[in-house]
Amino acid sequence: MEHQKHGHSHVDQACQNEFDKDWKLRFEELGKKDVPIYQKASYETKHSFELREKFIRHLIRESLRKKTTAAAARPLVLDVGCNEGYYIQILAENGFEVCGIDYAESLVRAARKKNPDLPFYQADVYALPFKENTFDLIFSFGVIQCVADWQKALTEIYRVLKPRGVAIVETNRSFRHPYLEKLSRNMRNWIRGEIPFKEIVKKTMRLLQGRAKNEPLAAFLSSAGAPTKHSIPAIIRFLEGQEVSDIVIHDPAKYGLFHHLFWGFSFVKIKNEDVPASPSNPTNCLLCFRSGQWKS
Ligand SMILES: C[S@@+](CC[C@H](N)C(=O)[O-])C[C@H]1O[C@@H](n2cnc3c(N)ncnc32)[C@H](O)[C@@H]1O
Repeated sequence: MEHQKHGHSHVDQACQNEFDKDWKLRFEELGKKDVPIYQKASYETKHSFELREKFIRHLIRESLRKKTTAAAARPLVLDVGCNEGYYIQILAENGFEVCGIDYAESLVRAARKKNPDLPFYQADVYALPFKENTFDLIFSFGVIQCVADWQKALTEIYRVLKPRGVAIVETNRSFRHPYLEKLSRNMRNWIRGEIPFKEIVKKTMRLLQGRAKNEPLAAFLSSAGAPTKHSIPAIIRFLEGQEVSDIVIHDPAKYGLFHHLFWGFSFVKIKNEDVPASPSNPTNCLLCFRSGQWKS
């Protein structure tokens, strides 16, 4: 499939390169460090990493089997931005055929060392080294937050997804009240004992200074092209421009200021299929994780 150009891809090239380069460097360095897995994935705390793991296990239990076994007895899964291959390991243990890619060489090396029997490749989401229509399921958690051109990344994910394949992509959470949310998260992390008090004071001071200067946190991310709540309509428009159905927006944060679990979207590719495209009707997924339901 040829790479398509989208009218709303107005990311400044220089900024894109800086943004992408900074993140890549950061992950390359993290991969070399002897730090816990959640830090390698650049998550602030162990807790946020564990929530994602829970979410993956929840998806496996509740819906992935049902959704993907129609296509294959052993669905072929790609984890884009697999870090040290932790999700890949869980998926392999649960009967999925797996493959992981990450652009950080140090992380791919570590993933291979930890799981010598599983396939890991060094690759960028902007140019996935696979033929089109290859995977039954694609995960990408914590990745399009780190790329400036999310349209290009999604075009690649879409290209390598099989017809009837499912893609589940995490994006930034919505930051409806960025300062308050960040402050409450810092407090929770302190109460959980994950961040020392001294660090909390420093972080809070930084937040208050930013607040005083009226620096919008969410704007920082969106200015670099990374998707926030502001680009969700653009993401939906983008997906509707592809042949997809079952677009689901996961937005648990919408239902409570202090509820932060998984924020992202999923879709099913339909191409060269005998089934007619159902009208893509974006739906909000109400506390999908908590209620044990993954609505689609
Ligand atoms: C925030 S971490 C998340 C890791 C893992 N998916 C998880 O949820 O625990 C993002 C991962 O994606 C990788 N990554 C970021 N941008 C990428 C890109 N453009 N191409 C490939 N991998 C990328 C990073 O090296 C890192 O391992």
